[in-house]
Amino acid sequence: MDEELIQTLIINAFEARTKSYCKYSGYAVGAALLTSDGEIYRGCNVENSSYGATICAERCAALKAVSEGSNEFMAIAIVGGMKDAKELKDYAYPCGVCRQFLSEFGSSDMTVIVAKSIDDKKVFTLGELLPESFSADSIK
Ligand code: THU
Repeated sequence: MDEELIQTLIINAFEARTKSYCKYSGYAVGAALLTSDGEIYRGCNVENSSYGATICAERCAALKAVSEGSNEFMAIAIVGGMKDAKELKDYAYPCGVCRQFLSEFGSSDMTVIVAKSIDDKKVFTLGELLPESFSADSIK
């Protein structure tokens, strides 16, 4: 994937992270999702006093995309860390539910970028992060 596009997605993920509503965990996540029509959808984690009702940043971005008619996912960048920390300590890998959710609209070739900064990043395919997955094919 084009390096400039990767950087654009990371910048958008950092921008999305500024909107994180994470008053319970203090862990702020941002995601930027690229769809096949060239749109970039941003998402942040949105927590809830009933903890289980929390929405992760990746699914926030995914829901925004699908609900606007963009349901073919090409790439996503994710950044996360404690809200008040000066810099991100670790890569924020997507949780299992989000990996499964992304796989509904992205192929195993979909690019998944986790980043601590614009230059410090790791790039995977969704297939690498979710091998042998359950899909529509499983229930044919
Ligand atoms: N979180 C995400 O936004 N994405 C993930 O893939 C894992 C976790 C959020 C949910 C919760 O608001 C906070 O991180 C701590 O779990």
